[in-house]
Amino acid sequence: MARLTIDGQEIEVPDGTRLFDACTQVRGEPLPHFCYHPDLSIAGVCRLCQVEIEGLPKLTIACNTTVKDGMVVRTRSPRVQEAAQRILEMHLINHPVDCPICDQAGECALQDQYMNYGLYSAEVEKADKVHKSKAKVIGPHVILDQERCVLCSRCVRFCAEITGTGELGIFQRGDRAEIDVAPGGELANNYSLNTVDICPVGALTSRDFRFQKRVWLLRSTPSICPGCATGCNVRLDHEAGRVYRLKPRRNDEVNGPWMCDLGRYIYKCVHDEKRLASPLVRQEGELRPATWREAAAHLGGLLAPGRLSLALACAHQTLEELVLFRRLAGLLAGSDRVAGTVAGVDLRQGDALLLDADRAPNRRALEWLGLPEARPDELAARLGAGGPALVYGQDPAAADAALAEALGASGGLVYLGTHLNATARLAAVVLPLSTWAEKDGLFVNRQGRIQPFQRAVARPQDAREDWRVLADLLAAARAGEQPSGLAALRRQVAAELGLPGEIDLNDLPAAGLVPDLAAGTPAGGES
Ligand code: SF4
Ligand code: SF4
Ligand code: FES
Repeated sequence: MARLTIDGQEIEVPDGTRLFDACTQVRGEPLPHFCYHPDLSIAGVCRLCQVEIEGLPKLTIACNTTVKDGMVVRTRSPRVQEAAQRILEMHLINHPVDCPICDQAGECALQDQYMNYGLYSAEVEKADKVHKSKAKVIGPHVILDQERCVLCSRCVRFCAEITGTGELGIFQRGDRAEIDVAPGGELANNYSLNTVDICPVGALTSRDFRFQKRVWLLRSTPSICPGCATGCNVRLDHEAGRVYRLKPRRNDEVNGPWMCDLGRYIYKCVHDEKRLASPLVRQEGELRPATWREAAAHLGGLLAPGRLSLALACAHQTLEELVLFRRLAGLLAGSDRVAGTVAGVDLRQGDALLLDADRAPNRRALEWLGLPEARPDELAARLGAGGPALVYGQDPAAADAALAEALGASGGLVYLGTHLNATARLAAVVLPLSTWAEKDGLFVNRQGRIQPFQRAVARPQDAREDWRVLADLLAAARAGEQPSGLAALRRQVAAELGLPGEIDLNDLPAAGLVPDLAAGTPAGGES
């Protein structure tokens, strides 16, 4: 351990600790910085994090210094403040200062540092500034403004060290130096939007989010990306019922500080024009909007105990919903006519960093619940036995033409979902439900980690929360008393899965939790 004094306060930290991190601990906030990033190598190029170390004649950058026993460090002395101001002035010599039209305004390190250490009048006229490319498209998702860049090299190091793709570099020298992709190249790796997150200024911005919303108007809700089995921890940024972007939330056990580009666009499904806003019932061959009462009247003849030829769930629903669906399906179809999902439907190409080939967020939950997947031909054969079918959440008709035909020929298809997709178009009754952004729930990721997510925005018009619809269908099938709320349902889920007593699904740590299951699968999975 090393014992040192920072700003008059004694602190003991493990040997090898970076002085930058020790200073953060004492100050309660980091030193001013552009180039330092805890998940990238040290570049030491912006010089903003300089501190005064007793016994050394010059100021020293803290990000590239290791603590030593007996060090006495000052981070707020007049010398340090003056140096920070001079360095900022240098960074701003050629900066366009176009904050009013910059997407980064409100979450820009340059703005923050200027307010903390700058506040001087610029001595360089706009006409004398060095001009570079603005609004340069450098990849499918990212746009570059070279004039705003402070050459911190974070984006270059990200592409070299995290994705290993090396698309970005610093070209030219002196005040002509600029970030760019190599001629003819583009920034097109699966994680390119992370460069936007780590760019401390508005030099790299998202083509999707550009000019959509001022960031100080957004509210953030913690969530889990439903894009694949990894279950990256994210936050949904939204305003007035509309989601504008997803940003990664650090969880060192799952995704670190990153997420993939594919996951960033998942929110589009929430506001898709095909969203179901009210129940639909088939009358004279046409699907027509109906009230929930009218839909319930149509369901009466279809969802009678033991009648279903097939009940099909999917790996995109929450753990709580799947527990209820398993109960409902067991009652209406009998366990030999219940399937968890269509085999292969969610399989795509993954990568070695985060993106899993399995694009479903909750397959482990299906496994825990003993809901097996089935091939399209097996499902079509079950439908051939006659009787109505109940499909929950996925779009099996889009996955396989023969299965679509069998669903269309079933004795009445009931579809529970969020979008007017190919399966919904074949249904006799369609019940509109909530996307993951519109409800609370639990996903079990590929590690077996149970991760909670929260409702961020309201559902459309007459759509309902899934678990309530499932509980109502169970009540209509006279399945006894149903849970009165999500908290009660979660207590039932924990008991039904045989989770260890100390796991409270209503009080999971924000970072998620891997249950310590001796057998690897909760008791419910064996039923
Ligand atoms: S584009 Fe952003 S992240 Fe890249 S060097 Fe410039 S300021 Fe740093
Ligand atoms: S890796 Fe998977 S969970 Fe993570 S952001 Fe991408 S799609 Fe979402
Ligand atoms: S943060 Fe230390 S030199 Fe840039």
